[in-house]
Amino acid sequence: MARWIRLASLDECPVGSARELVAEDRVIAVFHTVDGEFHALDGICPHQGGPLGKGRLHGCVLTCPWHGWQFNVATGQHQINASVKHPKYPLRVDGDTLFVDVDEASRG
Ligand code: FES
Repeated sequence: MARWIRLASLDECPVGSARELVAEDRVIAVFHTVDGEFHALDGICPHQGGPLGKGRLHGCVLTCPWHGWQFNVATGQHQINASVKHPKYPLRVDGDTLFVDVDEASRG
């Protein structure tokens, strides 16, 4: 069952941005892509724990600020290593607020 937690107001996440946010005890990396979609990944890079929400976003591709691993923010898929798929979180927009379901991280 979904458990929606308030994450941010929409104006905190402008188009083209990557943000590091916290919901309960989870670090969530939130992305607002140039095509107007919101995506959320686990905020901790699977390489060595870098802050994915502080990375650079180009289109749907995020670059981790520590060593440059790249992920598709829509899928969590690593751009080179097919065996690495980073967990995603469901997001929901309600009015001017972004909510995350912290119990439904998936690699789907
Ligand atoms: S910690 Fe992210 S690429 Fe190394």
